Amino acid sequence: MKIAQRAVRAQPFHAMSIGARARELESRGIRIAKLSLGEPSFGAPPGVHEAMRATMDGRALPYTPAAGLPALRRAVAGLYRTRHGVDVDPRRVLITAGASAGLLLATALTTEAGDDVVMADPCYPCNRELVDTFGGRVVLAPTTPAARYQLDLATALAAWTERTSAVQVATPSNPTGTTIPFSELAAICEAARERGAWRIVDEIYLSLADPAPDGSPARTALEADPEAIIVSSFSKYFGMTGWRLGWLVLSEELLTPADNLAVNFFLCASTPTQMAALSCFTPEALAACEDRRLELLARRGLVLDGLERIGLPVPVKPDGAFYAYFDVRGTGLDAWTFCERALEEAHVALTPGRDFGPATGSTHVRLSYAAGREELAEGLERLGGFVAGLGG
Ligand SMILES: Cc1ncc(COP(=O)(O)O)c(C=O)c1O
Repeated sequence: MKIAQRAVRAQPFHAMSIGARARELESRGIRIAKLSLGEPSFGAPPGVHEAMRATMDGRALPYTPAAGLPALRRAVAGLYRTRHGVDVDPRRVLITAGASAGLLLATALTTEAGDDVVMADPCYPCNRELVDTFGGRVVLAPTTPAARYQLDLATALAAWTERTSAVQVATPSNPTGTTIPFSELAAICEAARERGAWRIVDEIYLSLADPAPDGSPARTALEADPEAIIVSSFSKYFGMTGWRLGWLVLSEELLTPADNLAVNFFLCASTPTQMAALSCFTPEALAACEDRRLELLARRGLVLDGLERIGLPVPVKPDGAFYAYFDVRGTGLDAWTFCERALEEAHVALTPGRDFGPATGSTHVRLSYAAGREELAEGLERLGGFVAGLGG
């Protein structure tokens, strides 16, 4: 029997093998400092677990509409109003099983065979796989530290072809933790719109991004481009990775096609999870999430200081997502070997750049400061010893 070529071609997350080895070492009683996971150590905000338990009282939990519980769509729209001053009609919010399902839908909605899709190198690996799955061609635009490892207008346009159907952006970004300056993001969106291309903006880390100097929150792309496709999630800011819940904000013309694809792909996102997630929007839950953002900011400081002491340069300081992307060239090791040896010799799990694209794949390593302070401190200490042992 024939396996579809898209499945044959699909790449795993290469870092999974590092994770598997870390688990193997742990099963032998070795304590691993896990600085590889993009999962905040906090869990869901207060009230959400209780709300989940309340749904488990024996009641039927039927499908919701494909686009999600109306009350949850209203709550998400409300966040754009209160936080960003942007009016989003709740009809434009489609609830998904995490940003992953959102990216799948967004790509399915906009990519056909023969289309070119521009994205930054480095970037989150799934974007490349999804474009390939739907027959598109990924056009990677190598980025530089000067552009914060993000697309800027010139780089995006240099990658443009006659067949470019979309530009995909994540701000803040995984693996670099950096945001695109808002004016640059607006310029990229404007240029893509003028050229008749979709703008798919992954804002899964937006609420963790540093506020402006006047204290106002980091800005959503919707402020510059009301018709951009926004991908977001409960995974990071709300600390609900395993709950599998996220959302898209779509323009009017996409609502019916998106609903039709969503019902065929998923029927709907999990009903009890959607019901519980309504509790994310209480003042107490939002206040707890803000406290956690500040805690992550403090952890960022610890990590950047620690890496500097060790002599592992972070060419661009993160200002949003909980990642520091450091350059290992000075150690004489390539990124993969660095990660393998850091795991075996120092028992620190990190993520090599390979998954995120060729531009920095062999030179950079991602450290996640979503881990707790104790684990971070221990990991940094061991990493320091390991690097010192390499002798430069
Ligand atoms: C940039 C980016 N987009 C999407 C996702 C997928 O997130 P979710 O858990 O919401 O599916 C991740 C996960 O790490 C991510 O880093």
